[in-house]
Amino acid sequence: MSSESSTAKASRASRKDDHVRLASAQQTEGHRRTDFDDLEFVHHALSGTSPDRVDLTVELGSWTWPTPFYVNGMTGGTETTAKINRDLAIAAAETGLPMACGSMSVALDDAEAAKGFTVIREENPDGFVMGNLGAGRSADDARRAVELLGADALQLHINPVQETAMPEGTRDFSTWLTGLEEIVAACPVPVVVKEVGFGLSRRTLTQLTGVGVQFADVSGAGGTDFLRIENDRAGADDFSMLTGFGQSALACLLDAPPEWTTATTMDDGVSNRVLLASGGVRNPYDVVKALACGARAVGVAGTFLQTVLDHGPDGLVDLVRTWQTQTSALFALLGAERSTDLDRTDLLTRGRLGEFARLRGIDVTALSHRTDVLSRRNQL
Ligand SMILES: Cc1cc2nc3c(=O)[nH]c(=O)nc-3n(C[C@H](O)[C@H](O)[C@H](O)COP(=O)(O)O)c2cc1C
Repeated sequence: MSSESSTAKASRASRKDDHVRLASAQQTEGHRRTDFDDLEFVHHALSGTSPDRVDLTVELGSWTWPTPFYVNGMTGGTETTAKINRDLAIAAAETGLPMACGSMSVALDDAEAAKGFTVIREENPDGFVMGNLGAGRSADDARRAVELLGADALQLHINPVQETAMPEGTRDFSTWLTGLEEIVAACPVPVVVKEVGFGLSRRTLTQLTGVGVQFADVSGAGGTDFLRIENDRAGADDFSMLTGFGQSALACLLDAPPEWTTATTMDDGVSNRVLLASGGVRNPYDVVKALACGARAVGVAGTFLQTVLDHGPDGLVDLVRTWQTQTSALFALLGAERSTDLDRTDLLTRGRLGEFARLRGIDVTALSHRTDVLSRRNQL
């Protein structure tokens, strides 16, 4: 092994561990107001149902997931992060939660690092597992990552804000869209394109439609903040001037183009695109809010990471069980037996989220009267 490659390896490993350490430090800072706090439901006291009638199962294209939330892509590749993946995978196997790993680039070049990812399959042989790579990798890399993990899907992250602030990041994004198109065409399993906490805009989602992407996770701002993480790392160029850059998950969901939000089947019989959401999800109420805004399932990274760091896999199993019970209770309160019934809730968009919606020409009054529209339609 050349000394250069061992230096590169060491710096990649320290980056992975830095990400976990700095993301965890953000989790312990206490409550921050986010766009989730700016969304409220109009309360209808006689519209509820029984939790016994609630079915938390969600259909996403040809996939069926037992809960409307999943472990989002985080880590792998070092000793510390292999243990985190192992703990997450044990909890995912126990609860049936779908799970993604972090970027597998390191695993493609280094057999030792690969073990920090394959441990997920060892602990969870039958579960739904997603691999993860960054835009800019080749179609062949995508195939190898899927094979290495026995992945059911491949998350492909697009993270230009993080790359801009990352000391060793790329600043040339000019080939990402065409590269992504090649990966989507060649990948043996579905590709889920995701951000890492800065959001996918209406225009970006339309571009993804154009290159045949069927699954997207808007992964918006308000949770784990990769701009701060990169700024806080040693040797970083200071990009703190970009603080607040990007859109939240709820803003992205409200702004998404119709082909990503309307539950219809397309002419060719292929079910329509599947919009996922993540970024700053702290509790089941946030999950339900994202579902009510059109997400088909909700990804959680920082909150679940902190749980396994503090309480191990058993702690995460307990948390997931509590979230399942509480999500059912919230569905019942809102009169929803299935997550798709949440499109009948009346939404009040206030504060920053409301301002975003108004500036983008989203009809906030219609959002607050969705029940009326449905009752009128049922009377016709
Ligand atoms: C420690 C850590 C590492 C991450 N690494 C990756 C990664 O390798 N690939 C990726 O797509 N997203 C990665 N993410 C981003 C998450 O998947 C998610 O998009 C983002 O953290 C926002 O969700 P959260 O607020 O629930 O943490 C990482 C998140 C954390 C906390």
